[in-house]
Amino acid sequence: MSREERQPGSAPSVFDDMYPYRGRFESYTTLPPTGRDRAEILHELRQIARSEDARWETGRISGSYYHGGKEHYAFLNEIFGLFSHVNLLQRDMCPSGTKFEAEVVSMTANMLHAEAVECSGPDDGVCGAITSGGSESIMLPMLAYREQARAVRGITAPEMVVPDTIHPAFEKGAYYFGIRLVRVPVGADFLADVEAMRAAITPDTIALAGSAANYPHGLIDPLARLSEVALAHGIGMHVDACLGGFLLPWIEKLGYDVPPFDFRLPGVTSMSCDTHKWGYGLKGASVVLYRRKTLRRWQYFSTTSWPGGLYASPTMAGSRSGGITASTWASLVAHGEEGYLDTTRRIMRAADTIKTGVARITELRMAGNPTFCIAILSDVVDI
Ligand SMILES: Cc1ncc(COP(=O)(O)O)c(C=O)c1O
Repeated sequence: MSREERQPGSAPSVFDDMYPYRGRFESYTTLPPTGRDRAEILHELRQIARSEDARWETGRISGSYYHGGKEHYAFLNEIFGLFSHVNLLQRDMCPSGTKFEAEVVSMTANMLHAEAVECSGPDDGVCGAITSGGSESIMLPMLAYREQARAVRGITAPEMVVPDTIHPAFEKGAYYFGIRLVRVPVGADFLADVEAMRAAITPDTIALAGSAANYPHGLIDPLARLSEVALAHGIGMHVDACLGGFLLPWIEKLGYDVPPFDFRLPGVTSMSCDTHKWGYGLKGASVVLYRRKTLRRWQYFSTTSWPGGLYASPTMAGSRSGGITASTWASLVAHGEEGYLDTTRRIMRAADTIKTGVARITELRMAGNPTFCIAILSDVVDI
């Protein structure tokens, strides 16, 4: 029911604005008997896209849209078109997918200091895969930790210890894979409470996790201390850098104080880093990274006993469009270090302006000590 249709006196609903096209454009519950004119479809969808763009183009939307500029997206859409029909599952048909994926993983891993990982054998060294987004880059390591812990430590009732501020994708992964997620309340500083997390570890704990930065407050957990705890207990540690992965390396290079959050921490065994956020890639791509190949292999699936032949896929999806991988590669290469430094400089300028402004308003305060993403609180006004 639209806002206009709501009965006088009835309470507003969060769903009121969800169906603005009802009545404005034809709704389909069955296939149209004959195909519609393509120009007409394009005209209709252009109107819809334009009205939705107008909303975030006000600049008053926080999160969800990580804008790299209209020209940049037009460029990515052109690249996408070259490979949109390509099926990445069939690598023999599209070796370009192998090139793009390997290079995106490598560029991301090196941005996150893969060189800090000592390599003494062929299984050492940061490796990874392209996934469909941050959630998958979080859930695949959960599966890998579970499977490895079952095989190596005989754990059949796996648990993961995380701060309460961790992204819901961890809860989703726990639901999908039968892992008990132990959510530990954060401290008064809004950061992961390391001692409380340490105390929550049991013989069934397969891994810890922390964020760089987290979505609720934009804060970076005390990951160096969590890394020590993970090492001391011989368990895995995932850093969720979905949000900060493509910003924090450049923020650090710009001279800001950024606590260590990546593979320079010896206990970090996996990371998630979204190209479709501050990598300015098209939606539908993220990178999952592992410290060692021996951990990554647990996320793989293959079967040799199918009448259809040999089947193997590295991530959750079966068929995937080559357009996403190609356009993600193009986004990274088109920006280069200088491009990312430039956009990050502008983001930090805005963040600094917001922080200074909030500090001047006595009714407001910030959650913790934010870097690029700022949560504004108040004990006085309804925020
Ligand atoms: C910190 C963090 N982790 C994970 C995710 C999940 O990413 P996605 O929505 O791409 O699955 C998000 C999304 O905003 C996030 O901010």
